[in-house]
Amino acid sequence: MKIIKLNAIDSTNTFLKNMVSKVVVDDFTVVVAKTQTKGRGQMNSEWVVEEGKNLTFSVFSRFSDLDVENHKYLSFCISLSVYEALKELDLPSLSIKWPNDILSGNKKLGGILIENTLKGSKIVSSVVGIGINVNQDSFSKNLPNASSVKKILGKEFNLETLLESILMRLKNYHTILERKEYSLLEEAYLKRLYKKNVPTMFKNSQNILFMGKIIGVSKSGNLQIELENETIQEFGLKEVSFATL
Ligand code: BTN
Repeated sequence: MKIIKLNAIDSTNTFLKNMVSKVVVDDFTVVVAKTQTKGRGQMNSEWVVEEGKNLTFSVFSRFSDLDVENHKYLSFCISLSVYEALKELDLPSLSIKWPNDILSGNKKLGGILIENTLKGSKIVSSVVGIGINVNQDSFSKNLPNASSVKKILGKEFNLETLLESILMRLKNYHTILERKEYSLLEEAYLKRLYKKNVPTMFKNSQNILFMGKIIGVSKSGNLQIELENETIQEFGLKEVSFATL
């Protein structure tokens, strides 16, 4: 495994994607940066970090036979790897908020940005970006739901040790994905899914509130919510949010 360590970069995902487009990159090449000037989050959001305090990295990997229609299992693998590494630190009430935010209680500790390269109906490779708030002491008022491992557990953690722990798990899950052990992944992910089977207030894209409970993730990766009238509705990433978060 090759680890490229940088002080500052626009975004480790952008850097690694550029590299992949120019040279042949080994599987499991990792780019880690102390800070990013243009960190990117899901849905075109920005990801801001305090220099040297958090874990900010991207990993490149190839897949031998991963259908685009099975992309959710890749997302499951990444979130489970991060979840399990953080679980080792004894964080309370750890869960995965669909699709792949890592929460402790209602606080977000980490996010994942997966950027795939497709060839026909296959995902041939991906750059997976992971940002975890580890030792950051304070967060902007605009991010009321963000927290860090340090804020929750009251002590600092070594970034390299946590990185190693996540990378080891990513490798193991990569093998599971290559073996197409999809039902194992589905079961493991659903077990850790935030608010699964809990009656919850949601907000749709028109800001209309409704009650329902998460029952799973559809084949195409949408969130499945059972409404109060017992019908099941599917939602894409931009189509639903938690009313209380
Ligand atoms: C999110 O929750 O919105 C996803 C955040 C992903 C942030 C990481 S930090 C390392 C990598 N480089 C980026 O620019 N983004 C990802």
